[in-house]
Amino acid sequence: MPEQKSHASAAPVTYASVYRRSVEDPEGFWLEAASAIDWIESPTRALDASSAPLYRWFPDGRMNTAANCLDRHVEAGHGERTAIIYDSAVLGTVEHISYAELTDRVARFAGVLRDQGVGAGDRVVIYLPMTPEAHVAMLACARVGAVHSVVFGGFAAKELAVRIDDARPRAIVTSSGGIEPSRRVEYLPAVAEAVDLAEHTVGAVIVRHREGFQTSLQDMPGDGRAGVGNPETSGQGTSWLDWDEAVSRAEPVEPVAVAATDPLYILYTSGTTGAPKGVVRDHGGHAVALAWTMANIYDVGPGQTMFTASDVGWVVGHSYIVYAPLLVGATTVLYEGKPVGTPDAGAFWRVAAQHGVRSLFTAPTALRAIRKMDPEGALAAEYDLSGLRTLFAAGERLDPETQGWIGELLGVPVVDNWWQTETGWPIGANPVGLQSLPIKTGSCTAPSPGYAVRILDGAGQPVEDGMEGNIALRLPLPPGTLTTLWGDDQRYVDSYLSAFEGHYATGDSGLIDEDGYLFVMGRTDDVINVAGHRLSTGALEQALATHPAVAECAVIGLADALKGQRAAGYVVLKSGVSVDGEAGLAALQDELRAAVRSTVGAVADFRQVAVVEALPKTRSGKILRKTMRQMADGEPYTVPSTIEDRSVLDALEPVLRTTG
Ligand code: COA
Ligand code: AMP
Repeated sequence: MPEQKSHASAAPVTYASVYRRSVEDPEGFWLEAASAIDWIESPTRALDASSAPLYRWFPDGRMNTAANCLDRHVEAGHGERTAIIYDSAVLGTVEHISYAELTDRVARFAGVLRDQGVGAGDRVVIYLPMTPEAHVAMLACARVGAVHSVVFGGFAAKELAVRIDDARPRAIVTSSGGIEPSRRVEYLPAVAEAVDLAEHTVGAVIVRHREGFQTSLQDMPGDGRAGVGNPETSGQGTSWLDWDEAVSRAEPVEPVAVAATDPLYILYTSGTTGAPKGVVRDHGGHAVALAWTMANIYDVGPGQTMFTASDVGWVVGHSYIVYAPLLVGATTVLYEGKPVGTPDAGAFWRVAAQHGVRSLFTAPTALRAIRKMDPEGALAAEYDLSGLRTLFAAGERLDPETQGWIGELLGVPVVDNWWQTETGWPIGANPVGLQSLPIKTGSCTAPSPGYAVRILDGAGQPVEDGMEGNIALRLPLPPGTLTTLWGDDQRYVDSYLSAFEGHYATGDSGLIDEDGYLFVMGRTDDVINVAGHRLSTGALEQALATHPAVAECAVIGLADALKGQRAAGYVVLKSGVSVDGEAGLAALQDELRAAVRSTVGAVADFRQVAVVEALPKTRSGKILRKTMRQMADGEPYTVPSTIEDRSVLDALEPVLRTTG
């Protein structure tokens, strides 16, 4: 366990003592933390283990997350405080939205949802760019007890349709589109296609109009007329509504009381197969845990400003662009732009200086992109960053070189924090709000209070100190982590709780060193991470397999200097299919790239694909993706003894070496 080494003065509370209490007395620890939340009915106990291995937190508590994010701050006299600074680098605009104003917008949009028959427990899919409507829609769902599921704008129609069929939403909330530096991304055609593709019938699609897009509500089924469904389409009975018009007709709605254990949201994430997993987050545990992290990890309190440069479509965005800053009455920066190119690599520093940012949170990829454009950090020197206390990085491994470069440039601690969509908040971090522990580059520092982290071998036995193994978390997981997978408890148990008895398997490998520092090294499964975006190789393979020429294929994640990993595909053609020279090969490769783009989405950034004779497999038919990846990356590799035909691997080696 890392102890404080650098601070001579005796801190009243140390990380070590807090951590110890959290694992020895989780009941007392989390009940105490629960006092940071306003309850309609206070919980009398913290943990409900009656359905183990499915655990519930604060089983008898009742509350409302939106009321905790909004109304209570207004009622406490802080209505004029800024809740959101919407800084759109792509539009060149800045808007400050106070807590009072946001509360009003959310209450009115909650009225719109009510008018569409959305009530407690109903699902709402949100497909919105980085604009304040994302906050409004998410919090309005929370206000009426509906369960939102935000889908990232970089996903294509098919991925959206898959999520619609799994979540079975009563409504979809969307907008004309998102603005990328190079183009405008039209959302409405994708939403219309997804509504069509989905078997589930969505009751209403509510569209926030944005200027500058080609498609509008009038182009949608039923001419976009409010309340008119189009029985001609397979999205029968779907009404398309204009956001502003609907708001003008709606009455504001008060927050409803929900059980702490009720679902707040579903967030789909990539597993090893093509079918995304719907991670379910509850109301009470989520609010308690996030409020705790703001004070103890991210070091941001009421009236202070946090800038999380992610997207509301990812878990980092859910937790630290939307919920956590608002839960504690802080100001959150909603940044619509990129780290580079909007307009330059000084964008983050401009935002941090202009808005007095105290904690900045981003992905290592973004830092590498900034470094590539501005290696000397000259642009950072143009801004007054004296208010910045800490830089947080998560989403993928923070390589020591980038960590060193940015730490030196900014002169503030760079805190690597490791977590997953499933956990909702860091499993490992330097808890700078509680106590700054000495930083070791390459390590995310220490297990967060509440997480009993174990390094296990394949048989579930603890490895020797300092040895790498599977990172597992002893059950129960702390509040704020997933409660199950949407509609499928068994899949949750099978996917996460079955590999190691009494533990949650993170799917990451790593080690704990002699000082108790945690090092996360990479995934143990076929999930890859491209620019901090988690993708399933299975979903990419499914997309390639839709091409009529493809007999079988494999996708692996190769090391990439900018994006951490990039996806590379290897396809075997059906017998009798051949490509006609270099032009024919190039045309096929373009079609394969297009197949991935149109099914998974632009975010996969899928460029590299090779045609090969055969794929190396085990005798049971499993493709040797790990060996392929190691060969391509030029790493030492072992060939499993179960390989079916060694000559296939040998034949592939030159291809892998040139693609790596
Ligand atoms: N909506 C629609 N399309 C999107 C999108 C969105 N929200 N986000 C990305 N895309 C598209 C891009 O336009 C691009 O499309 P293109 O092939 O037509 O150019 C494609 O997806 C890949 O985009 P991106 O991953 O952003 O790569 P890039 O090369 O354009 O930019 C970086 C590189 C490093 C600047 C960028 O990846 C980045 O900002 N990374 C940080 C990611 C992050 O914050 N992750 C959060 C995890 S916590
Ligand atoms: P996601 O669910 O999209 O947040 O992706 C979670 C995965 O990203 C983790 O399981 C890790 O593989 C990786 N990851 C996230 N943060 C870190 C980090 N700080 N260090 C190493 N890997 C990370």
